[in-house]
Amino acid sequence: MKVRSSAGLRDRSALWFEDGKLIMIDQRALPHRMQLVSYSDSGSVAEAIRNMVIRGAPSIGAAAAYGMALACLKKEDLRVAAETLKSTRPTANDLFYAVDYMLMRIDAGDDPISAAEAYAQNIIDKCMAIGRYGSGLIRNGDIVMTHCNAGALATVDVGTALAPIRVAWNEGKRFTVIASETRPRLQGLQLTAWELIQEGIEHAVIVDGASGHFMRKGVNMVIVGADRIAANGDFANKIGTFEKAVLAKEAGVPFYVAAPASTFDFDTSCGEDIVIEDRSSEELTMIGGKYIAPQGVNVLNPAFDMTPARYVTAYVTEKGILSKEQISSMRG
Ligand code: MRU
Repeated sequence: MKVRSSAGLRDRSALWFEDGKLIMIDQRALPHRMQLVSYSDSGSVAEAIRNMVIRGAPSIGAAAAYGMALACLKKEDLRVAAETLKSTRPTANDLFYAVDYMLMRIDAGDDPISAAEAYAQNIIDKCMAIGRYGSGLIRNGDIVMTHCNAGALATVDVGTALAPIRVAWNEGKRFTVIASETRPRLQGLQLTAWELIQEGIEHAVIVDGASGHFMRKGVNMVIVGADRIAANGDFANKIGTFEKAVLAKEAGVPFYVAAPASTFDFDTSCGEDIVIEDRSSEELTMIGGKYIAPQGVNVLNPAFDMTPARYVTAYVTEKGILSKEQISSMRG
């Protein structure tokens, strides 16, 4: 990811290991400040995941992998560290996948930092492959809609849904990205738009409720990331994704889900079994530290929704563009 700072434009990923510490870009401070935070034990990494210093399924997974490596360095009880990390957010499969991967590598006697570094690099490599496969779906002049942030910040680097967009743009194709703002935490407005601006990709942000309006006017494709994809192709992603999928079907717009193997959960047979995280009511009632709702208001705040596989045109993965029937090739 290209990041513009006072030192100019430089390459940076969402997190990395340096001098015995895990460093993360604090995504809560973006787009206003490039604030780095560092962690040296698994408990504080767990807190960072819970508080959304880092977010996006593959980045959460990588953070947890480094959290397990730190637990090893600090000689913490590894089973406790694993459970603490897994308890932070329930929906993203990558979190559980990463912790189990690290337990396996540590049990095998591998160096924990090297294992976590390999985990993070592997995600980047998969995102690059997703980008190469998915770029072929984008044509000159297209309008490509996305939701939430499934870019470099969410995936260590490159992105899932944003990977085909980056690759197609770098190949010289010219098109426009429509990013929905993504209430209540505004990942579309604050993170996706920030990434697109860093790379000079033409875009516009819309309010979530404007998706249908723009689809009727002529969106060419929708591409989103995923937090967990069940064995039958149903998937969970940021709240508002299901609405977009239904609107896309109604408008005849192809709808793609971009994700690496770590997001596929073949132990969950269908989307109804995916645990959807409920987050604090304050995400809705507080803006800029100010309480904006009537006293006594009741709030429901699911962070994700589930979209049935019948709405998905195809899955863009590191193994190619797969139909629902082909996703079993992502197993193992
Ligand atoms: O609550 P968040 O910001 O972690 O939610 C992120 C999303 O829903 C992303 O779209 C998803 O993790 C895919 S990221 C490549």
